[in-house]
Amino acid sequence: MCGIIGYVGPDEVVPVLLDGLRRLEYRGYDSAGMAVLGHDEIGILRAAGKLGNLEQKAYHEPLHGKVGIGHTRWATHGAPTEANAHPQTDSGGQVAVVHNGILENYGRLRHELLDAGVELQSDTDTELIAQLLGREEGSLAERVLAVLPRLEGQYAVVAVHQAEPDVVVAFRNGPPLVIGLGEEENLVASDVTALLHRTRRVVYLENGDIAEIRRDALRLLDVSGGEIERAVDTLVWDAARVEKGGYRHFMLKEIFEQPDAIRNTVRAYLDQERRGVNLDGLGFSREELVRLRRIHLVACGTSWHACLVGKFVLEELTGLPTEVDYASEYRYRTPLVGDDVLVIGVTQSGETADTLAAMEMAREAGALLATVCNVRGSSAWRLAPSQILTQAGPEIGVASTKAFTTQLVAMVLIALGLRSARGLADETDAELVSGLQRLPQAVERALAIDDEIFALGTEMLADATDSLYLGRGILYPIALEGALKLKEISYLHAEGYPAGEMKHGPIALLQEGFPVVAVVPGGTNRNKLISNLMEARARGAAVLAVADEDADEIADVADLTLRVPKVHSLLQPVVTVVPLQLLAYHVAVELGLDVDQPRNLAKSVTVE
Ligand code: AGP
Repeated sequence: MCGIIGYVGPDEVVPVLLDGLRRLEYRGYDSAGMAVLGHDEIGILRAAGKLGNLEQKAYHEPLHGKVGIGHTRWATHGAPTEANAHPQTDSGGQVAVVHNGILENYGRLRHELLDAGVELQSDTDTELIAQLLGREEGSLAERVLAVLPRLEGQYAVVAVHQAEPDVVVAFRNGPPLVIGLGEEENLVASDVTALLHRTRRVVYLENGDIAEIRRDALRLLDVSGGEIERAVDTLVWDAARVEKGGYRHFMLKEIFEQPDAIRNTVRAYLDQERRGVNLDGLGFSREELVRLRRIHLVACGTSWHACLVGKFVLEELTGLPTEVDYASEYRYRTPLVGDDVLVIGVTQSGETADTLAAMEMAREAGALLATVCNVRGSSAWRLAPSQILTQAGPEIGVASTKAFTTQLVAMVLIALGLRSARGLADETDAELVSGLQRLPQAVERALAIDDEIFALGTEMLADATDSLYLGRGILYPIALEGALKLKEISYLHAEGYPAGEMKHGPIALLQEGFPVVAVVPGGTNRNKLISNLMEARARGAAVLAVADEDADEIADVADLTLRVPKVHSLLQPVVTVVPLQLLAYHVAVELGLDVDQPRNLAKSVTVE
């Protein structure tokens, strides 16, 4: 969602802001803008559409200054037009504001301002913040303190004021903001990818914090105006990992980074000597673990698919009944949660609003709370007392790939940690540990499928408007994930189904040439799925299968088969999803689409 960057330092600010916004592009946006504190007035540039449009404007209407704020907007209130792009200003043009989030009392504030005679220039809730700040008195931080009680909803706001040309002020309630502490310069951004190339020293703002940022000083206030301190964290991510590194797209690079991402995640939690994991009880006490009766997994999108796989893994390995919920549903129902439930929020970004709200709810209900998260220092990371960090490194492509496969690995690691703490460990654990150690090589082999095979697969899918992805058992969630990947980046409709359900509705879709992508499981489920495919073939469907090397019988029913190595059944989802990610990628490239920043999507969904 919206990207925010702010800078105070010795450099000309426009290139710094544009560079920061480029690095935030992956979050998804539909307009962009910047404000620069100049000598006489705040210079504002805004443009609808891609960042290139803003760059063009900056070239033709140059702004100069050393302090400024920039924004990429993902529209919520008002269409993605230039007038609605950020920064928004007050009527006098004295205050400029960029904002991520939604003001829930937008309607009331708007009417109050209109009744007071304010002429609003946009449809945005953001302008209301600028107008409110403009009507107060004192320094910008004092104005923020006065306005805060009037704002309801989620916001991360960065503002500048013409009267204080050396200050940027940031405040948040919900969406994240992080301050970058540099040499003779300080920055603020909506996430660390915009800061990494300038500094590794960061301060995460908490909800309610107000930051007054100067070139050589950072002052933090709480909502009552008292000075507070926050720890300085050092980032471990390497700036090179947020570059494409010779790949055509971030998504492709990230797909190929999966062996390393998995290797790092396994290594981080493997206890070599005991041939087990060092996640004993996930850090919960013995008494807490003895009380444990159930597990709830909450997440959105691709992370939710990881949870569906997690259910199979956790139930089989721990015997604990495991429920999986969409976070957006969980937070609005009345789940039976108490201190005998372990709630795990699974989130790549650690900033997904619904997942955070579900986790918060579980914490208030007294549940044991953990997170599987890819971003150290993110909101989920700080909310959960128990954290399992997937070591995928920064994921820039909107379509999640390496974060997903490391989440699948994390599910197995968690199950092993719970088994060891509950005294369940036996030879299964050693088998899984060795399977986890060999997994990166298996994924490498899954990545080695010939491009010509993908060309054939692409032909089958790219010409159709719809397709059906079928799976069974632990590979059924992989069918859902394969379909989601295709939908997200190729805009082709794809439906994921458990194969046994085909006869109960979706079979009506089948006709000559209709593509059916079969994710072929092992065990008894294999023959069942093959029977389902026979039924599909009988109705003219074109079958593309993803199957392990042992599944010879698939050749009789599939028009095209993508082979993956056979690994431990609980790890099979990890290798099986790889060709489906690549398939979606090739289809989107063939259709000439923007693979890394698909339309309407945001990488980090910080509003509900
Ligand atoms: C994945 O390809 C998606 N872009 C999306 O479904 C994503 O998984 C979802 O928004 C959840 O994000 P999170 O893992 O950061 O919480």
